[in-house]
Amino acid sequence: MKRSALILLVLTAVCLLAVTGVPAKGAAKQGLGEKLFMKHCSKCHPNGGNVVTVTKTLNPKDREANNVKTEGDIIKLMRNPGPGMVKFGKNVISEKDAKAIAEYILKTFK
Ligand code: HEC
Repeated sequence: MKRSALILLVLTAVCLLAVTGVPAKGAAKQGLGEKLFMKHCSKCHPNGGNVVTVTKTLNPKDREANNVKTEGDIIKLMRNPGPGMVKFGKNVISEKDAKAIAEYILKTFK
């Protein structure tokens, strides 16, 4: 009895750590790409999803099905998007920033 209570306590502690620890760590090493993604893209693509067109998420499976495979493909879509997505010109997102966002997408959403 006592032993199972202890196990439960440890498990609870681990869960709490997982819940509170992970976002804090993520925020600490949040890079430029992530920051820009949160600012410009996450409204419609929360967690790499797509709240407007559900078949066009940022996950590799959808991207590949839609022929969006490389950094260049992603940048091209920012400059010249499909229906329902806002256009991001160079005055809004510079070439360097666009690259950082594309890198972030490719390495983050699996
Ligand atoms: C106003 C909502 C909105 C915003 C903001 C938005 N998108 Fe989109 N995005 C969409 C929609 C809608 C589509 C699907 C367009 C289509 O049908 O071709 C899409 C598609 C995409 C795709 C293709 C995904 C696939 O599987 O075909 C990429 C990549 C993408 N967006 C990247 C971005 C990036 C990067 C940003 C931020 C710089 C961004 N989007 C901001 C709505 C948005």
